[in-house]
Amino acid sequence: MICTLLAFFSYIAKIMAGNQERTFIMVKPDGVQRGLVGEIIKRFEAKGFKLVALKFVWPTQELLEKHYADLSSRPFFPGLVKYMSSGPVVPMVWEGLNVVKTGRQMLGATNPADSLPGTIRGDLCIQVGRNIIHGSDAVESANKEIALWFPNEKDLVSWTPANVNWVYE
Ligand code: RTP
Ligand code: MG
Repeated sequence: MICTLLAFFSYIAKIMAGNQERTFIMVKPDGVQRGLVGEIIKRFEAKGFKLVALKFVWPTQELLEKHYADLSSRPFFPGLVKYMSSGPVVPMVWEGLNVVKTGRQMLGATNPADSLPGTIRGDLCIQVGRNIIHGSDAVESANKEIALWFPNEKDLVSWTPANVNWVYE
């Protein structure tokens, strides 16, 4: 009984410590075409983050214009939307402590030429216009992107991984 209570309070403490931060990660069309979906998922799983949602979709230009609305005035915007709507993508939600910032570090710099070896872009791609993966740049944008790509509450799965006490102290 006491053990159960302790486990419960420890679980609550972990939630309060921010372990439930979420980020939006998406394998772009080139990542899918090049067969890199498994490699990318593997890195987030191996890190210890928790998968909360995942799907395989061919996105419309309209959805991508909303997703990248902040970049609509940039000269590369039309090419970006064309590239991103050129084939299926794998949108995902990952959860964990500081997952937004750490996720961006795992992706590497926007331009793969500036991405360090060991990062996803540093290891797996060459040009900025074919940089295989998207990751939210802040908690606020993550929340917006999650709502855009996974509008139904039931798309986000609530579960406790068996390894939780081996990932967090
Ligand atoms: P993302 O949103 O896709 O995760 O990329 P990011 O935050 O690292 O970079 P962002 O500035 O948001 O740019 C979004 C995507 O636009 C393409 N891009 N092309 N030709 C160019 O100079 C250029 N700059 C950006 C990239 O695909 C970039 O990931
Ligand atoms: Mg961005």
